[in-house]
Amino acid sequence: MAKADLSRANTLKLPCIADFAARPTTLSALREVIAECRTRGLSITLLGGGSNVLLPERLPGAAVVPALTQWWIERDGERATAYVGAGVNWQSLVMTLAERGWWGLENLALIPGACGAAPVQNIGAYGVELSDVIEGVQVMALDTGRVRWLDIAECAFGYRDSVFKRAQAGRVVITQLALRLARHATPRLGYGDLAARVSADPTPLDVARAVCAIRREKLPDPATLANAGSFFKNPIVARELADRLAARYPGMPRFPQSQGGDKLAAGWLIDQCGLKGERQGAFGVHERQALVLVHFGGGTREGLLAFARHIIEAVEERFGVTLEPEPRLL
Ligand code: EPU
Repeated sequence: MAKADLSRANTLKLPCIADFAARPTTLSALREVIAECRTRGLSITLLGGGSNVLLPERLPGAAVVPALTQWWIERDGERATAYVGAGVNWQSLVMTLAERGWWGLENLALIPGACGAAPVQNIGAYGVELSDVIEGVQVMALDTGRVRWLDIAECAFGYRDSVFKRAQAGRVVITQLALRLARHATPRLGYGDLAARVSADPTPLDVARAVCAIRREKLPDPATLANAGSFFKNPIVARELADRLAARYPGMPRFPQSQGGDKLAAGWLIDQCGLKGERQGAFGVHERQALVLVHFGGGTREGLLAFARHIIEAVEERFGVTLEPEPRLL
């Protein structure tokens, strides 16, 4: 393990130097890295594709990127389970499975990052969340190196939330996912104009390609403009507040939640504050999707957080709704 510059290992391109970094490619190598960190008293920061993190300029301890890249499918008639290593790139997995005619992940196309990071925030898009298709998550305990599977209930998935952000944070490394696939057609086309973008009888690849096209229209490609996707979570507010706001702003998108309350569109709230395209130094609000903050270069996490505070305050003042950042503050 040696000092590592992580500035290119996070899609926001925030400058970050870690004391050490390691990319173990097998379970036993991962176990050794963890044991070495324990012996040397180094704290461990787990990283995947770096597409949902806000890195500090100096990261003490070790950045560990589980680079387990094996995956396979176990077929059982019309159904199958894909067992996928944490280091597999999410988008390449989604497209490969869709090309082979498997239904399940197609709505989650073009989400950047590694498979191991997907359960942490329960990635979701176009009406599907990872929790709809996942069967279990294999983890390695950081204190003992023991490997076990967590079932769905143990993962405690919620909207952009899971046990990996809560009780299991800092206790386990995600090493593998088990994902449910189907051969028979199960298109989920209810979100936005997705249905209008595919034929009446689409293949999983048609749906995946349509999702990619929609995302490319709105979301900046991190390869050309640094960003971490949605910078804020869509807030879930009390029904009364949503009613009051809807009376004042008839066009306001709102999504009633089965557990109570309404989910509002943070991008819409920011947009209504006139902040779309706003720029402050190194950072800006993306001009096609107000929920995405972009980094033009030369900024740091502190600068980004100051810019985010400016946005949170504007939305609070106008709507009485407090936005929360979505990427993880490491
Ligand atoms: N809207 C505006 N102005 C904007 C942005 C959005 O008025 O600048 C409105 C849209 O017109 C629409 C509503 O807000 O009525 C929702 O917008 P959109 O469908 O683009 O989705 P979102 O709620 O902004 C969420 C996810 C995305 C995901 C899309 C599609 C969160 C935090 N974000 O965005 O996820 O791709 O839905 O399902 O839940 C991510 O997490 O990084 C991410 C990109």
